[in-house]
Amino acid sequence: MTTVAPGTTALDRDWWKTATVYQIYPRSFADANGDGMGDLPGITSRVDYLAALGVDAVWLSPFYPSALADGGYDVDDYRDVDPRLGTLADFDTMAAALHAAGIKVIVDIVPNHTSNAHPWFLEAVAAGRGSRARERYVIRDGSGAHGAEPPNDWESLFGGSAWEPLGDGQWYFHHFAREQPDLNWEDPEVRADFRTTLRFWADRGVDGFRVDVAHGLVKDLSEPYAPWREVAETLRADGSHPLWDRDDVHEIYAEWRAVFNEYDPPRFAVAEAAVHPSRRARYADPQGLGQAFNFAMQEADFDLADFRATIEAGLADVEVTGSTTTWLLGCHDTPRVATRYGLPLAAGERAQQVARQWLLSDGRAPEVDLALGLRRARAAILVLLALPGSTYIYQGDELGLPEVGDLPPEALQDPMAVRSSTEKGRDGCRVPLPWTTTGPSLGFGSGGSHLPQPASFAAYAVEAQEGDPTSTLSLYRQALALRSELNRGPELHWVDAGPEVLDLERPGGWRCVTNFGPRPVDLPTGRLLLTSGDLVDGRLPADTTAWVATS
Ligand code: NOJ
Repeated sequence: MTTVAPGTTALDRDWWKTATVYQIYPRSFADANGDGMGDLPGITSRVDYLAALGVDAVWLSPFYPSALADGGYDVDDYRDVDPRLGTLADFDTMAAALHAAGIKVIVDIVPNHTSNAHPWFLEAVAAGRGSRARERYVIRDGSGAHGAEPPNDWESLFGGSAWEPLGDGQWYFHHFAREQPDLNWEDPEVRADFRTTLRFWADRGVDGFRVDVAHGLVKDLSEPYAPWREVAETLRADGSHPLWDRDDVHEIYAEWRAVFNEYDPPRFAVAEAAVHPSRRARYADPQGLGQAFNFAMQEADFDLADFRATIEAGLADVEVTGSTTTWLLGCHDTPRVATRYGLPLAAGERAQQVARQWLLSDGRAPEVDLALGLRRARAAILVLLALPGSTYIYQGDELGLPEVGDLPPEALQDPMAVRSSTEKGRDGCRVPLPWTTTGPSLGFGSGGSHLPQPASFAAYAVEAQEGDPTSTLSLYRQALALRSELNRGPELHWVDAGPEVLDLERPGGWRCVTNFGPRPVDLPTGRLLLTSGDLVDGRLPADTTAWVATS
């Protein structure tokens, strides 16, 4: 028997289908106690900011107890708050404040792996071979004499072997850092415990879940093992990969859907699933998680053909699933969009690839044209916010923050960087937000900042942008406010505007026009609602988007 929360309407059940969701990386958002690490009371203190921004929901990256071997994606306890970030009471206060401001709350669930300090893993280490405790993890006998060698040659995504020895001839598997042992999802207790975790947060009023590595839970570890070179290609279209995107994973999500549907409105979930595009729909199935991240826009260049193809593919997904698709320009795992779009590209090069190579390299940064990058990032967000479906905004992108590509090696925290002598990893997009133009950690908190902010961040501070109608923050605020008025119905029609202009129309005569070419172009006749940059003699210049009301 479910109860209907006061004020719930039929519309509320589908809130997520068109929501704008702001991703908070809690340790880098706002620090209320001055210890240099963002926290939940810090988020509570900034609810007014989020409300003024106009987002429908926030997604919080993990805030659970963690040794931070992977930024909190190594979870010690799924049903508590890291003491450095607050308490469960602080969570309740924060959720209540967000809800009072009309903002939904999405939390991150990390089911593929625990941390190596999780009580289950400590028990598995201590209990020894053949124990019940070892069944909760992916543990195999080693090869060679006395199991001294790893079971096979599979590699971790963060580098090195995917196997770590337990000291008695057995080895545990980890897709990510060695501090992140993979769970065995064939184990009924693992399944039951995660359902308990989902209910724990849903009962606390959480509106939805972002599911980390949703495509990784089920593995086929039957022998003989396929050699690494065969399993390294992860995006298979036929579900035949032993480690990723196996069909059986959807049995788990059907069980989760039953839990979500115990609530009214049903709880929502979005899958982080890096799968072949043809298989994404399975995660977005209404009988499963219901929505899946579409990362294609994050991979796209600022290029008309890329944008159009990406939008068409995203909308085609919707035809299959009956869900809605998601759009995003960045997240805590990707070089910031304002930098990506300003990278110099040689013929045939892709921005995302160049950005990653740079962050993988020895620190020699390419000459980034930040003014161009920001101009394009502003144009791009107006495209994303004009699309049907749901848009995710990564914290700081509304300020136009660039990637911090030159963090000193000793400051780096990301295991991708820590495990490597050359790679810089993902810390450059996780530097704490600048709130004020001066002061310790630029208003992030009263103390320091767990990752150093460059002096240039002061110019991007909320304080510097708030009163400026031309700022990126003002653009986001205006766009989000307008979108909530204009976004009526899922239809999108392409308008043929030639080889350099992306022109699309939404119901009610809402046109979104982007000039990808070098020369200014004419705008459609109508009322100009918003532009990402100044017009030139009434015409739309290069790298600029306009929203126009044509009826
Ligand atoms: C995806 C998360 O977004 C990323 O930050 C993390 O490192 C991996 N999953 C492992 O949990």
